[in-house]
Amino acid sequence: MPQIRTVAGTRDLFAADYATGSRVLVEAAQQARLRGYSGIVTPIFEYTEVFSRAVGEGTDVVDKEMYTFEDRGGRSLTLRPEATASVLRAYFEGGMNQGPQPVRLYYRGPMFRAERPQAGRYRQFFQHGVEAIGESAPGLDAEVIELAWSGLQSLGLEGVRLQVNSIGDAACRPAYRSLLQDHYRPHLGEMCEDCRRRFDINPLRLLDCKKPTCAPLQAGAPNPVDHLCEDCASHHRSLKEALVALDIPFTENPRLVRGLDYYTRTAFEFWHDDLKGSQNALGGGGRYDGLAQVLGFEATPGVGFSMGVDRIVLALQRSGLSAAPPGAAVAILPAAEGAAVQAMRLASDLRLSGHVTVVDHGSRSLKSRMRQAQKMGAAVVVILGETELSAGAAAVRDMAGGGQEEVQLGAVAQSVSAILERGAA
Ligand code: HAM
Repeated sequence: MPQIRTVAGTRDLFAADYATGSRVLVEAAQQARLRGYSGIVTPIFEYTEVFSRAVGEGTDVVDKEMYTFEDRGGRSLTLRPEATASVLRAYFEGGMNQGPQPVRLYYRGPMFRAERPQAGRYRQFFQHGVEAIGESAPGLDAEVIELAWSGLQSLGLEGVRLQVNSIGDAACRPAYRSLLQDHYRPHLGEMCEDCRRRFDINPLRLLDCKKPTCAPLQAGAPNPVDHLCEDCASHHRSLKEALVALDIPFTENPRLVRGLDYYTRTAFEFWHDDLKGSQNALGGGGRYDGLAQVLGFEATPGVGFSMGVDRIVLALQRSGLSAAPPGAAVAILPAAEGAAVQAMRLASDLRLSGHVTVVDHGSRSLKSRMRQAQKMGAAVVVILGETELSAGAAAVRDMAGGGQEEVQLGAVAQSVSAILERGAA
C-alpha cells in the first residue's frame, strides 16, 4: 500500500523550523503587547461571504485560491485565506465597537490559499498580524508599521525594505479608476484573460499583473498617489512624516496595490532581499476604512498588517539566524529495579531548578542509552544503578568533562547545576 503523505503545499513543521517560527511568534506577541494590543482567536473557517465580500470578487484569492466547501447543512464555508475580515467581523459581533476606540488586536494562525506551491509559498501557511480598529488618524498607520518593523528588527533580520503607497479612497478612487481604464482601453485585446476581467471589476489590479502580455502595458499608466484627493494626500503626507520621525527607512512605491480589494489610502509591504520574485514579501497591510460597510456593519476605519511566518523563518535561515530546537540538558537513566519512580522524582527536582530534563524510560543496555543521551546533546547524565540506589545515591556524569561521581540523591540537583554552570562559563 502506498505510504500516506502530506497534501501538496502543506508541510510539517519541526526541529529548527518550529523553533525559529516560535521565536518569531514570541517576539511578535511581545511587540504587540508592549503597544497595548490584546490577543484574539477567530475560527479557521467562516461563511464564504466573509471573504468573498471583503477580499473581493476579481482577486486571485477569491476567484482561484479559496478552499470552499459545503457543510452537511448545505452552507458554503471557506477555510480562511486571511484574517482581517474575520477580526473585523469579530469586532462587531463581540461588541468591541461599543468600548473605547481604537481597539487594538493581535492574532496568529494558519491561513489557506490554493496557490501553486514553491519555496515560500504554501497552501497552508502561518501568519501573525494586528488590526487597530475604530480610528482613522495617520498616527495609527504609523503605529502598526512601526510595530511590524520593530518585530522584524528584534529578530536581527537585515535586508528588509519597507514599501509604502497610498491608493486613495471612495472620494478620489472613481476618477482615478477612469483614468486607469482610459490608459488600458486601447490595449484590451493584448491583455491576459484575468486582466480583461479586472478591467471592469477592479482596474487597480492591472498595475500588479506579472504576465509578459500585461507587465509592459504598465509603463505610462497613471499612479494612484498622483491622483489623491486633499484628505488622502494629507493623510499620506502625515504618515510619511511620522515614519521619518521614527527613523524607519521606506521606499515610496507608486505601483504597490496589494492583492486584496479592501484597502483605502495606506498600503505597505515588507520585502526581503534574499527572497526572490513574488515570494519576497515578508508581510504587508494597510488601511481598510470601507471594509466594515462591505461586511454589512456601520462605517468604521481600521488599519493592520499580517506577516508571513514561513517566509520570515526562511529569511532568518538564509541569514544564518535559525533558532536551535531546545535540547535536553540532563538525561536520567534508571537502570535498576524500582529506579523509574526515583528517576521521575529526581527529574521534577531538576526541572524546578530550571534544567531541561528527560528520563530514558527504555529498557535497552546502559551503553546504548548513554550513546543516545550523547546524541541528544545532554550535558549531564544521571545514572540510577543498583549499587548507587542501594547507597541512596546516583552517578552523575559530566559528558563534556568526562568525569563521573557518586552523589547523594538529595544533592544531585546541586551537583548538576554546578556542572551546567561550569559548561556555560
Ligand atoms: P497578504 O499580503 O495577502 O495580506 O498576506 C500577508 C503575508 O502573508 C504575505 O506578505 C506573505 O508573507 C504571507 N503569505 C501570503 N500568502 C502566502 C502563501 N501562500 N504562502 C506563504 N506565505 C504567504 C493579508 O493577508 C492581509 N490580511 C494583511 C492585512 C492585515 N491588511 C490589513 N490588515
